[in-house]
Amino acid sequence: MAAGAKIISGLEVSAAVKERVKKAADELVRTTGVQPCLATVLVGDDPASATYVGSKQKTAKELGIATRDHRLAATFKQHELLELIDLLNRDPQVHGILVQLPLPAHIDEFSVINAISPLKDVDGLTPYSAGMLQNGKAHLKPCTPSGVMELLDYYNIDPAGMDAVIINRSNLVGKPLVFMLLERNATVTVCHSRTKDLEKKLQSADLVITAVGNRQRFTLTADMVKEGAVVIDVGTSRHQGKLAGDVDFASVREKASWITPVPGGVGPMTIAMLMRNTVSAASAIAAGAGVQR
Ligand SMILES: NC(=O)c1ccc[n+]([C@@H]2O[C@H](COP(=O)([O-])OP(=O)(O)OC[C@H]3O[C@@H](n4cnc5c(N)ncnc54)[C@H](OP(=O)(O)O)[C@@H]3O)[C@@H](O)[C@H]2O)c1
Repeated sequence: MAAGAKIISGLEVSAAVKERVKKAADELVRTTGVQPCLATVLVGDDPASATYVGSKQKTAKELGIATRDHRLAATFKQHELLELIDLLNRDPQVHGILVQLPLPAHIDEFSVINAISPLKDVDGLTPYSAGMLQNGKAHLKPCTPSGVMELLDYYNIDPAGMDAVIINRSNLVGKPLVFMLLERNATVTVCHSRTKDLEKKLQSADLVITAVGNRQRFTLTADMVKEGAVVIDVGTSRHQGKLAGDVDFASVREKASWITPVPGGVGPMTIAMLMRNTVSAASAIAAGAGVQR
């Protein structure tokens, strides 16, 4: 039995990323006079979404990134939202546009995401960015999967040759991770709620990335993982009154070689990567970047 997995600390890695981002933002202001600016758009009054947007605004300010904060009523219409995005796309002082998801049911998420200029797509979710990622050419990549890759790199965990199992197939997490891991020469299996024999697939995995977010539906326990596996927990849910991931941390830790805690694992990375994307977008726009067609 492994002596106990080493901890992959999102707090430590995100602090290192944010320090680099702050330096890059300061340097951009110094050399070009351009201050990176992130516009956040929140529709409705979901408290969790409001908290996420508040953290993004706060972190941006700490790193020398200017912000715009658009908070709109839940009744805001889709065409009004598309008009706002058009204005932000054309505003030369805005470099990143983040539309907080989920949107209210009367608004079509795909249409809204698709309306964001790829140059300002700091969430990396537009079809353009997704296609570029698939082609190994993306400039702006989705934040949570990029955060996972940053964690692996920081601790010199090389996915090349690993059998990786991702439990999630969303546009936000699972699908982009497929391309990021393939690019790094892992062999990738994607699982979801309709996967047969999930446990069998997990037992041969060198790298497990789980993002279910519902402990009743799925909990990763020690008997499911291979000795020495690397375990990354993206899931967030409430379990026994506390913030928890998908992983039964205490038992899996005894068997894995590396493991992310929740909280303090992938979570802090998502915001850090958003900040990095914002400064990258600002630098590219300042340098006159266009969209390849
Ligand atoms: N830490 C962060 O920064 C961060 C960022 C983003 C997301 N998250 C968290 O990650 C989780 C996923 O987010 P998401 O937006 O991708 O949500 P989602 O679209 O609901 O994805 C959940 C995935 O889990 C799969 N699933 C559900 N039950 C399962 C089961 N019993 N066995 C195997 N797979 C099962 C679903 O399969 P189907 O596709 O078949 O339904 C789906 O692919 C959430 O907890 C979210 O809060 C965290």
